Amino acid sequence: MAKKKAAILGSSGMIGQRFAQMLIGHPYFEVVAYCASDRSDGKKLSEVWKLSDVEIDARLGEKAIQGTDASALARQGVEVVFSGLPSDVAGPVEDACAESGMAVFSNAASHRMEPDTPILVPEINPEHLASIEVQRKRRRNGGFVVTNANCSVTGLALGLKPLVDAYGFTEVDVATYQALSGAGYPGVPSLDIIGNVLPHIKDEEEKMAIEGKKILGTYASGGFVDSPVTIYASCARVNVMDGHLEAVFIRSKSIPTAEEISRTLSGFRAKPQKLKLPSAPERPVIVLKERNRPQPKLDSMAGTPERARGMAVTIGRIRAEKDCVRFYLLSHNTIRGGAGGSVLNAELAYKEGLI
Ligand SMILES: NC(=O)c1ccc[n+]([C@@H]2O[C@H](COP(=O)([O-])OP(=O)(O)OC[C@H]3O[C@@H](n4cnc5c(N)ncnc54)[C@H](OP(=O)(O)O)[C@@H]3O)[C@@H](O)[C@H]2O)c1
Repeated sequence: MAKKKAAILGSSGMIGQRFAQMLIGHPYFEVVAYCASDRSDGKKLSEVWKLSDVEIDARLGEKAIQGTDASALARQGVEVVFSGLPSDVAGPVEDACAESGMAVFSNAASHRMEPDTPILVPEINPEHLASIEVQRKRRRNGGFVVTNANCSVTGLALGLKPLVDAYGFTEVDVATYQALSGAGYPGVPSLDIIGNVLPHIKDEEEKMAIEGKKILGTYASGGFVDSPVTIYASCARVNVMDGHLEAVFIRSKSIPTAEEISRTLSGFRAKPQKLKLPSAPERPVIVLKERNRPQPKLDSMAGTPERARGMAVTIGRIRAEKDCVRFYLLSHNTIRGGAGGSVLNAELAYKEGLI
């Protein structure tokens, strides 16, 4: 089958460049347009490359950036849009693309809480894709928007899903140690963060609570039903390049052994693994036994096969006591919590015949 023509919005940014990297040679999608603001219009991708852990691929460097205009994308035959736009500009641009009939996969917060728009994490809530049929009724030309979650809640929800299903846990405390790349480029001023920790990230704790309920909830009778799981978050920015580390505390009257929890997490497989989606990690949750893991430097890129690097969540230091289980969890914020999450969402939608 011919590949779907795709565009990347925000292609000069942290998320946009992860998209560009992950979509090289993709079996379902071919990127035909790299878009950003008028500031970048006409520049080559190599001139605005910001990822420091990957050298720009020779096939990408010469690509020219164009301005962001839904009508131009429609004329170019674009069917699928990957959006890495800031939330304050994403709303109307993504709407214009969806109204032109495109399938939009967004990292921005603008549409996340709409009643007919999923926050999709394919291992957790693939049934939420049914909301697209409702959304399509209010839009012209069959287009739609699918979002992925805030980068700190995606990884946490992946670790929680198998435990909530197996043991019915509902009360979760989490303290985050979030990487600098989570703030976009250029992000936090260096003088604020070198030798320092910032114990507040605007709106992050609220997003973790609200989005967590939607992601872990169900979709029934044409609407989203919130999960009973409550996430109490304390979020901090730390001097780390990539990878959000989280200290998780789950309280319950009945706690299984650490060995059982480890087996439940390690054995977790879901629809993307069954469908063998190209960016699905073979093991979505990897339990590490070493006492000093997971670490952002060593474990952020966890995940196999090659296309799924950075898509697995790692968990370590599982400790189970009478009424509390504690562990550390790590996920790559711009891959699993960002561009990779959207790519996996698009792969699921493609396999389900929605694009
Ligand atoms: N970083 C993360 O870990 C992460 C994770 C999950 C979700 N997100 C979300 O993903 C989105 C992108 O984040 P980021 O970290 O990639 O941000 P970023 O590095 O600041 O990049 C923003 C991109 O948007 C473009 N842009 C800005 N204003 C525009 C406008 N008016 N019209 C068209 N393009 C415009 C920029 O183009 P110019 O360079 O031309 O200005 C740039 O390409 C945000 O909504 C963020 O909340 C980020």
